[in-house]
Amino acid sequence: MTDIVYLNGDYLEKSSAKISVLDRGFLFGDGIYEVFPVYQSTPFRLQEHLERLTFCAKEIELDLPYTFSQWQEIINQVIGKNGGGNLSIYLQLTRGIQPQRQHDFPENTPATVLVMANPLTTTIAQLSPIKTTLLDDIRWQNCHIKSISLLGNILLHQQAIALGYQEAILHRDGVVTEGTTTNVFIVNDGQIYTPEKNHHILGGITRDVIIELAEQQALTICQQQLKVDDVYQADEVWLVSSSREISPVTQINDKIIANGEIGPIAKQMHKAFQTFKQTLMATSD
Ligand SMILES: Cc1ncc(COP(=O)(O)O)c(C=O)c1O
Repeated sequence: MTDIVYLNGDYLEKSSAKISVLDRGFLFGDGIYEVFPVYQSTPFRLQEHLERLTFCAKEIELDLPYTFSQWQEIINQVIGKNGGGNLSIYLQLTRGIQPQRQHDFPENTPATVLVMANPLTTTIAQLSPIKTTLLDDIRWQNCHIKSISLLGNILLHQQAIALGYQEAILHRDGVVTEGTTTNVFIVNDGQIYTPEKNHHILGGITRDVIIELAEQQALTICQQQLKVDDVYQADEVWLVSSSREISPVTQINDKIIANGEIGPIAKQMHKAFQTFKQTLMATSD
């Protein structure tokens, strides 16, 4: 049951939580968001998600209404009121409500804040391979901002689905950026590679966790520019995110990756990821 949401100071049934038609999130997609998993009632990497939220708020000149501990309190209340356990938290802020639709930033207008729980639907206890296509990254130049304006991502994702794939790997002029909802990793000769952080990719929290865990296991990890051919010729390709953790890619268009199997480094990293989660949950008891 995930029926209770936090909206602007109140805890409400989802069905009675309403947003004004003059909200800038509704009218312009003027806002930012975070999504993070909760395992056994413990938010995963909350500090890092709130830091990214703070960074994105600065990038769009939006004042965050709460301190870290106030966010923590609201998130814990939402987790508790929705029965705890394993959940996915969605947190969104918009630039609030204006008397009429106009583009200028409003003055002295409180942000609209929504925190909502959803069931954690992904089956991450097991690695599930996916098939992807490769698409031209037609999005804007500020993909490092976790903006609620996701039309570019949604159109690309849907294009992948319509072609019979589960995700798209995106590129700008042959340089790989990310997936529509994921970051990209490849493995070659036992070394791991991922595109470096820049304005064309979202700096994923899962990406950071994987880099940390790989380093702990003495695996070499290089953050550098990757070309489409690097991905096609890789021994392993993975797409990663908070909702998916690690998804091994076994096919890109007609090209079979890793003989259509889950590669050994994907298995190793998946195991390390699960152990890391277990350790965090054990220490938060
Ligand atoms: C475009 C994009 N890239 C990467 C990610 C992965 O980010 P994270 O690991 O923080 O979930 C997401 C997650 O939603 C995303 O939408």
